[in-house]
Amino acid sequence: MSEPETTEIEPGASETDGGESLYERLGGAYGIAGAVDDLVDRLYENDAANQNPAVQEFHEEGGKAGFKYLVTAWSIEATGGPEIYPGRDMDEAHADLDVSEHDFDIVATSIRQSLHQVGVPEEEEAEFMEIIESYRDMVVADRDYDEDEIPDFVESPTSY
Ligand code: HEM
Repeated sequence: MSEPETTEIEPGASETDGGESLYERLGGAYGIAGAVDDLVDRLYENDAANQNPAVQEFHEEGGKAGFKYLVTAWSIEATGGPEIYPGRDMDEAHADLDVSEHDFDIVATSIRQSLHQVGVPEEEEAEFMEIIESYRDMVVADRDYDEDEIPDFVESPTSY
């Protein structure tokens, strides 16, 4: 299996034969923001997710609107929409959270629930979950990931 050489988003990466990107098929910014709105509300209320003390602390700090914005922007970029994500890379953003495999599974399940809740069709749900899974090694603490296998969907800007 050969890895893509570029670290940029590949224009065709999230497209079907019809040529529509996953971003477009999810309903663009409105569709994605709707799903993230549901997801973040769901996660803030999720007792299992809050068992991780770093996560609970973050949820108690407030800043929910900003977090929704960042996750929406990340998802727009990850699904082949415009490159607008202004936040940190996934490894850096989760480095101090001690995320376990179980924590990751809880978040992945919540994502599925939200996609279902807002009516995303099965095929698009599967494609989105594949993107999420490809970040597992980077988000879960102490999991090794091969630099060459880092997903190339989203790169943080080099300057803010
Ligand atoms: C692939 C799955 C995930 C994605 C796409 C994702 C996405 C993001 C994004 C975009 C941010 C904002 C980055 C920034 O502040 O610049 C973030 C931060 C955060 N994520 Fe995730 N995340 C994922 C998995 C997880 C998991 C499994 C957990 C916890 C169990 C988690 C907990 C958090 C917390 C607490 C923050 C805030 C960190 C801080 O600012 O102190 N995330 N995530």
